[in-house]
Amino acid sequence: MGEPAHLTSATVNEERHIPVLLAEVLAGLNVQTGGRYLDATIGGAGHAQAILDASAPTGQLLGLDRDPDAASRAAARLACFGARAQVIHASYVQLAQWLDGAPWVDGVLFDLGFSSWQVDDPERGFSFREDGPLDMRFDPSSDVPTAAELVNQYPMEELVSIIRQYGEEPQARRIVQAIVTARPICSTKHLADVVASVVHYAPRHSRMARHRGTSTGAGERHSRMAHHPATRTFQALRIAVNHELESLETALPQAVAVLRPGGRLAVITFHSLEDRLVKSFFRQAERGCICPPESPVCVCGRKPSLRAITRKPIVPSKAEVEANPRSRSAKLRVAEKL
Ligand SMILES: C[S@@+](CC[C@H](N)C(=O)[O-])C[C@H]1O[C@@H](n2cnc3c(N)ncnc32)[C@H](O)[C@@H]1O
Repeated sequence: MGEPAHLTSATVNEERHIPVLLAEVLAGLNVQTGGRYLDATIGGAGHAQAILDASAPTGQLLGLDRDPDAASRAAARLACFGARAQVIHASYVQLAQWLDGAPWVDGVLFDLGFSSWQVDDPERGFSFREDGPLDMRFDPSSDVPTAAELVNQYPMEELVSIIRQYGEEPQARRIVQAIVTARPICSTKHLADVVASVVHYAPRHSRMARHRGTSTGAGERHSRMAHHPATRTFQALRIAVNHELESLETALPQAVAVLRPGGRLAVITFHSLEDRLVKSFFRQAERGCICPPESPVCVCGRKPSLRAITRKPIVPSKAEVEANPRSRSAKLRVAEKL
């Protein structure tokens, strides 16, 4: 980790990840000529490229990604920007350390979750649509336990709590009982089948569509996909394997610290746990003081550090969801450093 990413032949000329809420991100970050930006989750560099274009001819961007493959793909895509773009294989939990030389930036972007490349590659183990090893690590070169290790080795109660908490899955206990009976489970399909054997949801969209007697094409197809019985279990395991919420909690204050006053922080989330975390971080940072309400004077001395630009999160338009169904659960929140 922490190495500048290099171009590999496997990563060139593939452009399958469509950046979500692109125009809204550029406006939210208030991208300006000559600005300095940090893309904490560079992925396929779709947002990053647009930021570099909008800040031309002198704007600079540093991109991080925990996935070595994503980092090299991004480096390849941004090679034409020369020294204006730098990509490092690193987690955003250490984001402040990569800005050592010149600590201030004008904007920080987090586009959370996974990219299309990651979910579409069965070898990464993120998806139950195709069979693959039960891995789910964003960084396969790291030694964190894989999803298979969690599923096969964690005690029952710990697994119940992971699936209940991170998947918001009401049937967590029933699922874990089935998992424990079926152990060992080493592939995504096996896990999906085990979950599907005990969880039976009526897909929400079909109830709604029956009500309305309508169909929304691609959006509907994908909302049906979102309600595969294993969706919540897979989300929970991915969050647990990659310590996603803890990482975000550590990184957000660092992002505020590296912003210059007036700089913007933009965060795109894809599920309610992430969105709640970001919303509550923004609220606290706006408020500053964390003294209990009964305290007559402030003793904590904390001052507000952010002003929210978006009171409600920005969500994709109907047209964007039709064109890119994977954007359907995206929420963008933006705040400005005081
Ligand atoms: C939705 S994709 C980003 C897509 C990107 N905005 C684009 O336009 O192509 C999210 C990326 O975040 C990366 N990621 C996840 N956790 C990370 C972390 N802790 N630090 C850095 N990158 C992370 C994933 O590997 C993935 O490539």
